[in-house]
Amino acid sequence: MVTWRASGTDAGRADRMTLLANAPRLSPAAAEGLAHDLFGLTAHAVELPSERDQNFRLRSGDGASFVLKIANALEDRRMLDAENAAMRHLAVTRLVPVPLPTRTGDDIARFEGYHVRLLTHLEGRPLADAPRHTVALLADLGRAVGAIGRALATFDHPALHRRFYWDLAHAASAVEQPLPRMRDTALGRAVESLVAVHRDTVLPRLPSLGQSAIHGDVNDYNVLVDARTDRVTGIVDFGDMVFSHTVNDLAIAMAYAALGEADPVGAAAIVASGYHAVRPLTADEIAALYGLMAMRLCLSVSVAAVQQAEQPDRDYLGISQAPIRATLPTLARVHPRLAHYRIREACGLAPVPHAPRVVGWLRANAGRTAPLTGHDLAATPVLGVDMSAGSTLIASDPATHAAGPLGHRVFAAMRRASAAIGVGGYNEGRVIYGADAFGAGGVTEERRTIHIGVDLTLPSGSPLYAPLDGVVHGFEDATARLDYGPVIVLRHETTGEDPVTFYTLYGHLDRRSLEGLSHGQPIKAGDRFAAVGAPPDNGDWWPHVHVQLITDMLDVPCNFNGVAPASQRATWLSLSPDPNLLLGIPPERFVRHPTTATLLGERRRLLGGNVRLSYGRRPLQIVRGWMQYLFDETGRAYLDAYNNVPHVGHAHPRVTEAVAAQLGTLNTNTRYLNEVVVEYAAALTARFPSPLEVCFFTASGSEANELALRLARAHTGQRDLVVMDGAYHGHTTTLVDISPYKHARPGGDGAPDWVHASPAPDVYRGAHTDRGRAGLEYAHEVGAIIDDVRAQGRGLCGYIAETCPSVAGQLFLPAGFLAEVYRLVRAARGVCIADEVQTGFGRIGTHFWAFEAHDVVPDIVVLGKPIANGYPMGAVITTRAIAESFDNGLEFFSTFGGSTAACAAGLATLRVALEDHVQAHALDVGAHLVGALRRLQTSRDLIGDVRGSGLFLGVELVRDRVALTPATVEAAAIVGRMRELGVLVGTDGPHENVIKIRGPMPLTMGDADCLVAVLDQALGEA
Ligand SMILES: Cc1ncc(COP(=O)(O)O)c(C=O)c1O
Repeated sequence: MVTWRASGTDAGRADRMTLLANAPRLSPAAAEGLAHDLFGLTAHAVELPSERDQNFRLRSGDGASFVLKIANALEDRRMLDAENAAMRHLAVTRLVPVPLPTRTGDDIARFEGYHVRLLTHLEGRPLADAPRHTVALLADLGRAVGAIGRALATFDHPALHRRFYWDLAHAASAVEQPLPRMRDTALGRAVESLVAVHRDTVLPRLPSLGQSAIHGDVNDYNVLVDARTDRVTGIVDFGDMVFSHTVNDLAIAMAYAALGEADPVGAAAIVASGYHAVRPLTADEIAALYGLMAMRLCLSVSVAAVQQAEQPDRDYLGISQAPIRATLPTLARVHPRLAHYRIREACGLAPVPHAPRVVGWLRANAGRTAPLTGHDLAATPVLGVDMSAGSTLIASDPATHAAGPLGHRVFAAMRRASAAIGVGGYNEGRVIYGADAFGAGGVTEERRTIHIGVDLTLPSGSPLYAPLDGVVHGFEDATARLDYGPVIVLRHETTGEDPVTFYTLYGHLDRRSLEGLSHGQPIKAGDRFAAVGAPPDNGDWWPHVHVQLITDMLDVPCNFNGVAPASQRATWLSLSPDPNLLLGIPPERFVRHPTTATLLGERRRLLGGNVRLSYGRRPLQIVRGWMQYLFDETGRAYLDAYNNVPHVGHAHPRVTEAVAAQLGTLNTNTRYLNEVVVEYAAALTARFPSPLEVCFFTASGSEANELALRLARAHTGQRDLVVMDGAYHGHTTTLVDISPYKHARPGGDGAPDWVHASPAPDVYRGAHTDRGRAGLEYAHEVGAIIDDVRAQGRGLCGYIAETCPSVAGQLFLPAGFLAEVYRLVRAARGVCIADEVQTGFGRIGTHFWAFEAHDVVPDIVVLGKPIANGYPMGAVITTRAIAESFDNGLEFFSTFGGSTAACAAGLATLRVALEDHVQAHALDVGAHLVGALRRLQTSRDLIGDVRGSGLFLGVELVRDRVALTPATVEAAAIVGRMRELGVLVGTDGPHENVIKIRGPMPLTMGDADCLVAVLDQALGEA
């Protein structure tokens, strides 16, 4: 659907009706005839949508594509000439269609009064239909519009010098007129306020904006894109060309790029950045952009409002307006200067134009400020206080930090350092702002987390002195919890020529600081004007004063944001430069963390290259975990649906306390008798069926699997082992030998002769897919391998398999498989090893151990990952007979295996898992997730299979549900996109096309819904 297009003449609406009445109505066959007769082209015609003209896509026998344009009988011929000339002029950009000559060498042919043209056809689909407007695509849109803008600087045509309804140069009067017709009052108010923005920010600048021929309608249906490569392939429809302000094309492109975006200004700013790189914008052009883009959308709704009133039966007018109507109120809520600053930021300029002057003045006058706290902070012992997302000062649960304990920790640290004052916080990503005011969206949505002031921690009641001369600009008691409490803003001015106004803000004050203040009241540098407050009156924070510099209050009377969204960081740091310019604290006193880029560089230098990071070139820097959430260095939360090691939740307090207490008491090895080791061994073995009763502790899953192999070899006296294709059992030399996931992949050395891989029992894409029979069919493949081994005169050591093969694609073994395999293995005198490293401790919901779901009892069970909630630990549980075979005089000792702290961690994890009924919880949430994912499968063709149980799930993506073509590229893109949307999952399987979901067990129903919604969005954009 195209947005409604006004007539190409200034006569406006009446003409439009006439134009519609005179629109050509040719059949495709007639169009084919015209193409042949007029242009000598034999081609097949398909009609393209158009309201007042007629357009046909032509495809010739050799596959070449063209567009036949049949212009309305009333269309101005001079305009068509101008369009053709412009397209020819712009051919160098390779972004526009080019007119082709008629048989007689003309540009335009005549047919029954119509004007007929043949143009080259450009590949691509309209930007409006692109599943997603990525940063790369939006930037390329800007570059494309910039390229057209540059090229049109040297083009003109007399027909373009016309008065045209859609010309933004005259939009103000056009929009103001039909306002009363707008029924939707919220929309009407948005339009009204944006018209005012246009009046204030655009009209005064119009004389200084450069002019040229412009395209005039770079809307999202006139821009063609290749969504796969995120590139613009063409800009079409030059029918609205006009001689106007050059920047209008960019403004229009920005307006349509903003539609439907959660952050419309952010999306528009990216378009501006691409444009600026190709055709540098002037400061006035940038300042006018927001008002112009908003005006374009206002113009569109105004025109539509008039149209709808005149033709109430023509529904589509309303429908095509939906995205505009949805976006305008969001746009209208953005302060126009903030929008301006964000566009400047995107263009690489100082976001607040006058901020550098404020900073320069403060720097030049650094020695002349009065000390805020009464101390010379350059000489006073101060302690850098870390309140960043990863700070150990903050309680594990970021939402429940309380002023008391936090203050206690901060002041204790200051006492230890003999520091009178604690300092820090500028440009720091934080997690302590739990209130809705900092972001009321879902847990994973962006919140305001970047602290843009400095916090000075000092005892409540400490006096504060004005650092500079100023007047009281605002004061209030912001009483909401975690707000400023009492806050004062002073207004200052730089001295010298052309003074600039700026502000200083002081928050979390003592309530008495507000008494007797009046707006405009002069305050002299050095005047005592406030005192540090105390919780709960100070917003319920630890005692400190929040000091902030502000270069533009954005018309906020007093309570200016002290924390900003990370995606707008540079703009807010320009609105609030570093207040240390006033305080003069030596920079080295502040706690500094390396940037993600620095960390990445250092890591690359220091760690082996194949120690991988997730998410390719944009790895996550994770600094905190709490239950089912992880937090990055900006304070952003992610739903962790990936890590199964923090079984009962990241930083679970009971495990943390148990480990910390044990580390503070004793942490040594199993060579000493200690209660916790035995207590844990008893608690763990009690969870296993007979005859599994003896345990060994190790420091990792790999170590445990190594030990399991030694046990099996000792017991059977044999080496030959049957493994499962795609399996992973660990990273040591022997375990790589038994892990096809490693040795059979690029870089692997293949299997040694004692390792025999059996097919992974995949009932979705494997050899046996009849779920009723597959278990036995796959088991017989194992049987055949065992027969083969024995036929070669070799004995069988055993069989090892993950009970739910994970890296092989989150598989669930078919019914009957494991029981039959164990029967066959035991018949061949082998032992059966169950690798439960991924799946133990209730994860699958139905059973505590996954092997229990298959009615078998292994001879050896290997545990790892979740066993101690992240504390290094592994375990092997076996029968007494096997343990005795192994006990042949050679000591088994693992330095860290079964350390006192590891056993304390294991015991605490096991107790929490049992007391909190994580198994039953996993069953409920897993069933909810599987149900939601299966429903999603009905609308998202990429989902080929949903499988698993509890919180061990796989979603296999395929391009074709019959051929099962793996959607590997799509899976990677979807996982990457889900991370952007705040949900962490991974891919696995031999084709890396299975999305694996297996996060910490506290994952709630709400988290499950969030995950499915995010997956749905990512699938929709894939
Ligand atoms: C099934 C399985 N077994 C064993 C291991 C090895 O455990 P670790 O990395 O603790 O050595 C892993 C690790 O991913 C695993 O997935």
